[in-house]
Amino acid sequence: MIKKAILPVAGLGTRFLPASKSIPKEMVTVVDRPAIEYVIKEAVAAGIEQIILVTHSSKASIENYFDRNFELETTLENKKKFDLLNEITNIIPSNVSIVSVRQPQPLGLGHAVLCAKNVIGNEPFAVLLPDVLVKDISGQNDLSKMIQRYETSESAQIMVEAVPEHLVDQYGIVDVIESPVEGESIAMQGIVEKPAIGSAPSNLSVVGRYVLPAKIMQLLENTPKGAGNEIQLTDAIAALQATDVVEAYRMSGQTFDCGSKLGYLKAVLHYGLEHPKLGLEFKKMIKDLDL
Ligand code: G1P
Repeated sequence: MIKKAILPVAGLGTRFLPASKSIPKEMVTVVDRPAIEYVIKEAVAAGIEQIILVTHSSKASIENYFDRNFELETTLENKKKFDLLNEITNIIPSNVSIVSVRQPQPLGLGHAVLCAKNVIGNEPFAVLLPDVLVKDISGQNDLSKMIQRYETSESAQIMVEAVPEHLVDQYGIVDVIESPVEGESIAMQGIVEKPAIGSAPSNLSVVGRYVLPAKIMQLLENTPKGAGNEIQLTDAIAALQATDVVEAYRMSGQTFDCGSKLGYLKAVLHYGLEHPKLGLEFKKMIKDLDL
């Protein structure tokens, strides 16, 4: 059973400056909660029970958010604001724990994942990149399907979605004989980090959700710096393919890249419209804009 997930949150978020100068980009609010809450809830909905944050000294507000806040709780209790009290004490279920390790140097995503090696031990695990929000469509949790697939096939799962050809150089891109149908996996022939436009093996991009065996850690230890002069998770996955089948899982949900300003605005629109308390009025506000 896959119960552990690594969330690399040490990145400084240069794409989200100036806000990320003093707010971790993961803490930027999407409607009424920080972006990272959506990602952790996605992991929890897929059965994850231990979240491992790979973090940085400037990101303590992430850990604080998921911790109890005695002073605030006491104040809300004294003021009989029980709804709010309930909301801030039940952000994640009590069987889910959050631990953190530091990434001492910004050496890349592969290095960030490797920083969690001792917490992972010998178990397979998930990786969720918190810039990207993945929204279910019709209640299908894609990560959950990847985990189920891993548990039956024992093949690593890499979530992918199609992107326009002119954007392939911004992502990991997989090489597959044919594009899998949404919600299904297919064995990959290869994977490459940020290929030049015109040389990509497909237009299926790595979304930022992975289910990996523990042995990827040994491969990461031996992965030299790659694209962007960083240790790339993509390169370790390519090395894993020398011995193991690795599958591309084509997602059926919708993604929002909250690391980019427009992606973030799009997320606020979509999550705002679906918010149980604010959605209807928000919709009316948008209609009233009369664009
Ligand atoms: C990382 C991964 C890349 C993936 C992307 C998804 O890149 O290295 O393979 O496609 O996340 O967001 P980054 O965006 O950190 O440069």
